[in-house]
Amino acid sequence: MEVAGEPIRVQSIADKDLKVAVPPQYIQPPENRPSKLGNGNATDHKIPMIDLRGDRDVNLLCEEIGRACSEWGAFHVINHGVSIPLLDQIRKVGSSFFADLSMTEKLRYACDSNSPASEGYGSRMLVASDDAVLDWRDYFDHHTFPLSRRNPSRWPHSPPNYREVIEKYSDQMKILAQKLLGLISKSLGLSSSFIEDAMGEIYQNITVSYYPSCPQPELTLGLQSHSDMGFITLLIQDNVAGLQVSKNDDWVTVDPVSHAIFVILGDQTEIITNGIYKSAVHQAITNGNRARLSVATFHDPAKTVSVSPAPSLNPPPRYHGVVYGDYVSSWYTKGPNGKRNIDALLI
Ligand code: OGA
Ligand code: NI
Repeated sequence: MEVAGEPIRVQSIADKDLKVAVPPQYIQPPENRPSKLGNGNATDHKIPMIDLRGDRDVNLLCEEIGRACSEWGAFHVINHGVSIPLLDQIRKVGSSFFADLSMTEKLRYACDSNSPASEGYGSRMLVASDDAVLDWRDYFDHHTFPLSRRNPSRWPHSPPNYREVIEKYSDQMKILAQKLLGLISKSLGLSSSFIEDAMGEIYQNITVSYYPSCPQPELTLGLQSHSDMGFITLLIQDNVAGLQVSKNDDWVTVDPVSHAIFVILGDQTEIITNGIYKSAVHQAITNGNRARLSVATFHDPAKTVSVSPAPSLNPPPRYHGVVYGDYVSSWYTKGPNGKRNIDALLI
């Protein structure tokens, strides 16, 4: 299925002196190139910013969340309960791994490139077709929940606080994800535990992505257009900018807000809400001046869990139920292919 051998780390290309042209396998076809630098921001496209402060009226909060989920499938949250210094710490240890360690040291943590979503240091999304265009991105994937999957000895040992920071961050992100899934359920008139009950045990992965500066940002993408497969993704980025969300056929750049956390609904949330809430299609662009870092925390069900539309939500169901593991495998077989994976489930 997957081409044999080690993928090339983007950073090792970007670090070369020949900063004139990107190798052909990173050049996007014209229709996928980032032609417009988030010009959508000029219109009424303002990504919602939701204040989760504890003393807010819950009904008003749910109303705001409902609107953001149906109009965008993505929004910023502030006063989210996660320690702000911890956000800075994870950005710092993440960037230190990519920027300060030698390639040889980093490759000691290489993920298994023949096994999808394996833990460790990697490059490119795994897709079946050999002619897939590659992403201008390297990453480190950490398996953090359930605790039986968490093995910090497989994570970078440098800087010395790296593993402790990831563990703390993982714990706090899980609490925030649970809080948000509760509010999202409530905003649809479901019991606040509805989505979490359907999800079962939470599988959490933390992916630190590093996008080296790119000699031809107009021809490449850091991460091609996709929606996330699970329920909810919580993302923070540094101050470089590059994440874009699709809105009315336009790309809207997500402003970096250092103390905010960016929430992205995944395909399972779209399925369980019977399409009332949409997963957000998003991509990352590159730039010619500075490397960019992001930390995405994914919350998925176990592979054996089947997800279907909640019976009370706008029947009849618009999606076939799906076993999460099958959904993930179909993604890795087909690749994003310019089409939303979830559309295959439409009734
Ligand atoms: C992802 C993702 C965007 C970013 O990892 O799924 O969408 O800005 N990342 O790194
Ligand atoms: Ni994503």
